[in-house]
Amino acid sequence: MPTIAKERLLKLLREVPENYYELVNFFLDGDISIEDKNIKSKSFLLRELDKVNMKNLQFPSLDQLRTWFEQENKVTREAYQNYLGMRKDGGKRQYFTNTGQAFEFLTKIAPLKQVDGAWLYSAVNYWNNEDLHDLILIYLEELGTGKATANHVCLYHHLLKCLGLDEWNLYLEDEYYQQAAIQLALGYAPAEFLPEIMGYNLEYEQLPLHLLITNFELAELGIDSSYFNLHITIDNLDNGHADRSIKMVEKFASKYEDQESFYQKLKQGYALNQLGIGSTQIIRELNLNNFVHKILKKKAVTGSLIHNNKCIFHYKTVNEWLSSPEQVELFIEYLAESEWIKFGSDPEESRFWRLIHSESGRMFGVFNLAERQIIYDWIRGDFPSRFRTLSHQHTAHHLHEMSTFSFDYFSQLEHDKRQSIINHSPDISCKMAQLIPYLAPHAHHQKMGLWSAQVYTTLLFPHLIQL
Ligand SMILES: [Fe+2]
Ligand SMILES: [Fe+2]
Repeated sequence: MPTIAKERLLKLLREVPENYYELVNFFLDGDISIEDKNIKSKSFLLRELDKVNMKNLQFPSLDQLRTWFEQENKVTREAYQNYLGMRKDGGKRQYFTNTGQAFEFLTKIAPLKQVDGAWLYSAVNYWNNEDLHDLILIYLEELGTGKATANHVCLYHHLLKCLGLDEWNLYLEDEYYQQAAIQLALGYAPAEFLPEIMGYNLEYEQLPLHLLITNFELAELGIDSSYFNLHITIDNLDNGHADRSIKMVEKFASKYEDQESFYQKLKQGYALNQLGIGSTQIIRELNLNNFVHKILKKKAVTGSLIHNNKCIFHYKTVNEWLSSPEQVELFIEYLAESEWIKFGSDPEESRFWRLIHSESGRMFGVFNLAERQIIYDWIRGDFPSRFRTLSHQHTAHHLHEMSTFSFDYFSQLEHDKRQSIINHSPDISCKMAQLIPYLAPHAHHQKMGLWSAQVYTTLLFPHLIQL
């Protein structure tokens, strides 16, 4: 590891950083020991737990848990039926006006989706405690029990890749990483945090209205929504994750020595979900204009000094405009003033669009398809769309092929070595100790991690493995 990177990590170890992005990278760094992550998670979680607002939190008593969640679930389903009725009567989409906005949403939730399930990682250490098996089961299902086509992180990565949105991390502010940092910290939290983990899980596994509407509207826009659909089915309250998350608490609570302390910690963990920017807020604050500005600012860095000096906009050449990204907004205003961009009309009438989209355009290739889709929707506004970038209709099949046929020499070597060690391990305890590091949030979606999840599942829940 380069010295500078090492120094940065050591600094992170010493203090709780203000920066959530760095914290996420810290927990996802395979070179940092689990022990160091355990220490960091505790100090970070205590700080975040201090921030939760418990005063107005609605949370049932332990004996009312199931009834309360069933009632919440019913309210959500009824609200969804109202939404469907409104749409059937000709009402507009409520979340995504266009594909560009859907892309903005998928980008902004990406930090969280890249660690899907992470808050439950520590559960796999308790494989020999049956009381916690429901928690482990949820985690293993988040990992797709080792199948790339069912692993939630693999599925989301693949979705973004197919859409051309895999450079999402270039466009996001630190606040979008807060929930991801919390989830990772819970995943590395010591045993004393189990009630908080269960409380967090309890909220996270319930069916939210935004998931149902997102699933519906993404599919309507022609975007593969199977990742979202999967969370409607696998998290169901009858026998899915929502059901298990309640069972888990009921079972564990009865054995906890100090019931009141357990209940308070459970509630606090539940409340951790309110920190940071959630899906509903992201949807409410979608702003394609700002998003396009970010894309253009990023391009400005590589675009300056590349243009000739023939085109002048308001006394400045393109190179001069692009020389500092802060000028991008003003530059756009002049582009619109000189009708290079005609907002609210067919983008084909905009010279800027033809330059970036036409194969013979002088800027063709500067923006990938996803970026062009976003820019197209930004220019046209309410003008009907005639351009579609979507070419990812066979996502699941493609992912299956990629995971079946991909080959990595070094991971194959490690795989062979690890397999031999596990096969020669004297007992289940030794096998589990070998497998658990590969089930970590940074590793479980890689080849070795997927294999480890399969072996772990086979050892603990053989009935889950389909032959
Ligand atoms: Fe998930
Ligand atoms: Fe789940």
